[in-house]
Amino acid sequence: MSANRSGAAKPRAPRRPPMRGWIGRGRGEAYLVQAADEWRGTTVQVCGLWPFSVGTGAPMIGAPMGRHLFTGATVCCDPISWFQRAQLIGNPSVMVLAKPGIGKSTAIRRMATGLAGYGVLPFVLGDLKPDYVDLIEALGGQVIRLGRGRGYLNILDPGQALEAARHLRAAGHEKEAAELEGDAHGRRLTMVSALLTILRKQPPTDVEESILDQALRVLDRDHTGVPVLADLLRVVQTAPAELREVAVDRGSMEEYQRITRGLEQSLISLTRGGRLGETFAQPTTNPMRRDRPAVYDISGIKETDSDLRAAALLACWSNGFATVNVAHTLAAAGLEAQRHYFVIMDELWQALRSGSGMVDRVDSLTRLNRTLGVGTAMITHTMSDLMALPTEEDRMKARGLVERAGMVICGGLPPAEMPLLNTAVPFSRAEQDLMVSWSDPPGWDATHGREAEPPGRGKFLIKVGGRPGIPVRVELTAAELAVNDTNKLWHAQSRIGLEAP
Ligand SMILES: Nc1ncnc2c1ncn2[C@@H]1O[C@H](COP(=O)(O)OP(=O)(O)OP(=O)(O)O)[C@@H](O)[C@H]1O
Ligand SMILES: [Mg+2]
Repeated sequence: MSANRSGAAKPRAPRRPPMRGWIGRGRGEAYLVQAADEWRGTTVQVCGLWPFSVGTGAPMIGAPMGRHLFTGATVCCDPISWFQRAQLIGNPSVMVLAKPGIGKSTAIRRMATGLAGYGVLPFVLGDLKPDYVDLIEALGGQVIRLGRGRGYLNILDPGQALEAARHLRAAGHEKEAAELEGDAHGRRLTMVSALLTILRKQPPTDVEESILDQALRVLDRDHTGVPVLADLLRVVQTAPAELREVAVDRGSMEEYQRITRGLEQSLISLTRGGRLGETFAQPTTNPMRRDRPAVYDISGIKETDSDLRAAALLACWSNGFATVNVAHTLAAAGLEAQRHYFVIMDELWQALRSGSGMVDRVDSLTRLNRTLGVGTAMITHTMSDLMALPTEEDRMKARGLVERAGMVICGGLPPAEMPLLNTAVPFSRAEQDLMVSWSDPPGWDATHGREAEPPGRGKFLIKVGGRPGIPVRVELTAAELAVNDTNKLWHAQSRIGLEAP
């Protein structure tokens, strides 16, 4: 018979002490609650410790990046794996923002190495340092050198697009072939317009763009072989009916020449080694291949040659994305195996600030018909760089590049950056403090008589939408250190200094 029915009092459950013990004098109250020690172990080792074991906050999927700064857990992350396998991000792209010298290129190199292990081909579209040449060489890839006297990239070369279109037509894929040709045409037009924008510091007019568009069509129809910019100039000068029609010269040759005068001058400058040299006006010296890793080494272009640098970056992006498009179209038609690419665009700010309307050009050059299996990484310094663009339209579009990135990785950034950054991606106060602390200047190492390592080197916050960021420290392995030294010239110099009598 139960105690309740008999009216007897229900036995009380033994009381448990609260978190700080029995509160009160002489009862052992603890003023300080110590955090429990944490250890890491495999599920095989710690499975019996239930309920004291917790999983890591981030998935163990992707290229191993390093250790979580607070828990020491391994953090794996790359845009392709997080998009395809973990389904954590909406599109396979990453935007990296941090002060110079923090290790942005090094972090992306790590991702590229990890992804190469998964069979993804890294394409480094424009290496200004060079940061990636050693890695791509170590991976057995193609190194394409560009710059004055180093190598040429003909921007009117449709590359593999025409050959691929022929291949597609032969296999009965007429629609895909036409798409590929249309795409090649669009990219060439965008590139010529971009070069004119850089040259003049303002975009070409609508009429000029229509004239160029028609001139490229005339060139495709009448020219045998691969055209160069001089051929385009010749078409503009010979004034075929199609060009005169879009120029609306009303039957007057004088009027046509007046309208095309500026265009002619700019094209002459591009073909005769003007400010942008002849880098883009000569036949391509080393065509890009789609079956192996590749890097465009543009480190030979001097820092002071900022217009040529920007133009080279754009040309590399255009060529690289065209190659990826060809590979994907052929794979979708079942004519080739599906390849995956990791496209790296470092030093984005250098191209964006080279003229108004450049964000648009970047947007159209880097858009792909088929995004499946292509991861992109864009690297820039700060939001202030993007917000310093001349027009409001450009600024909005540049912010859009950050907003649309599937994943944003931030390193040390100055406090003034935080309000700007927050307009694109929301960061908590603690996260902001962390990033600001990583931007502190390095101390002085008195023992070795040189600057100590900057406190933020190799430290990044991986941020996906509104989720809490994952702070990680990228630790380089011995093999990486051998191919990762971006300060080679300095070391060579100091060695000479030491060896001198
Ligand atoms: N995790 C790391 N551990 C040790 N050294 C590192 C690490 N990350 C970067 N470094 C070193 O720091 C230097 C600068 O790195 P890196 O070129 O990647 O920086 P960055 O942010 O890309 O600079 P910039 O803005 O100038 O392009 C290099 O010498 C590199 O070897
Ligand atoms: Mg870098």
